[in-house]
Amino acid sequence: METPTSLDIHPDNAIVWLEDKLYLLDQRVLPLEARFVVCGSAADTAKAITDMVVRGAPAIGVAAAYGVVLGARARYAADGEQWRRGLAEDIDLLAAARPTAVNLFWALERMRRLVTDLDQLDPIPALLAEAERIHVEDIAANRALGELGAALIHGPTDIITHCNAGALATGGYGTALGVVRSAHAAGKVRRVFADETRPWLQGSRLTAWELQQSGIPVTVQADSVAASLMARGEVGWVIVGADRIAANGDVCNKIGTYGLAVLARHHGVRFMVAAPTSTIDLGVASGADIPIEERAAEEVLACAGTRLSPDGIEAHNPVFDVTPAALVDYIVTERGVIERPDAAKLRVLMETADA
Ligand code: MRU
Repeated sequence: METPTSLDIHPDNAIVWLEDKLYLLDQRVLPLEARFVVCGSAADTAKAITDMVVRGAPAIGVAAAYGVVLGARARYAADGEQWRRGLAEDIDLLAAARPTAVNLFWALERMRRLVTDLDQLDPIPALLAEAERIHVEDIAANRALGELGAALIHGPTDIITHCNAGALATGGYGTALGVVRSAHAAGKVRRVFADETRPWLQGSRLTAWELQQSGIPVTVQADSVAASLMARGEVGWVIVGADRIAANGDVCNKIGTYGLAVLARHHGVRFMVAAPTSTIDLGVASGADIPIEERAAEEVLACAGTRLSPDGIEAHNPVFDVTPAALVDYIVTERGVIERPDAAKLRVLMETADA
């Protein structure tokens, strides 16, 4: 498996390392515009993550790993043997870019460990190789969990997904949409209903574009349609990704996921969370310990850059919520599937992952 090396416009080609620079397919403007943002420094990369040029838990981890390479290159050019001193600041800057998705900190920790261990003078080849490993391992994990998730589905069925947990949100292939892609290839998907995902519209813009590119039937719906759609009885599954899974199996994901899980349980629809093990954080006991990012009020008060609410109005914009483990039927990872997650099952899975 290889990392992308061209600037073709395709969901699987959203993070590209080319000629010593990082190219990120700009997710703020897709699908109306298809353009890459070029990052030449760790600071550029941190800003791209904060501004959501690149978004989605595994994708920001991969981008941050390349950001460390960019930081190290500048520090090595400026300070020679002392390159490590300033690089710690670059890594801290990248870690501060967004607070919720643990994959960001997981990837930076891998890079930080290598920085400590390296003994050769020029650090760039080894750091770049590690960033590329993080990238290709994520693609491989998504393909593996895609197959495992698809095996649980006895189609053909309708599926609801929320936000965008596709190739764009990962190193490639996707988590929730990886399951959808594998299930579709096996003839098990009738149609995907993509929640539009207010306020940032990851569903109507990004998921709709990705699924259309893959030839998978997709219908965009307002987030509030899910209840009545489930009541019709044709939806077999809700399949979502995750930004962080706590030690007890609570799942933090895009705001609105918790409501979908409640609806799914009420209507007898199965609820699947698809995520690589890099999303599991045994360091947080439950979802209550996960920091929830609050973004600018303007994201809610305006739509596509046009202010719609009256001046002087406040907005509440937490961008993630926590679904209690008790509402989750399956967590699907590259290392295996957990049914009805709890702390003991997650511990066993992670011990296997560390073995
Ligand atoms: O704010 P975003 O767009 O970064 O949020 C993304 C999500 O919530 C995704 O569902 C999650 O990161 C899983 S991506 C494979």
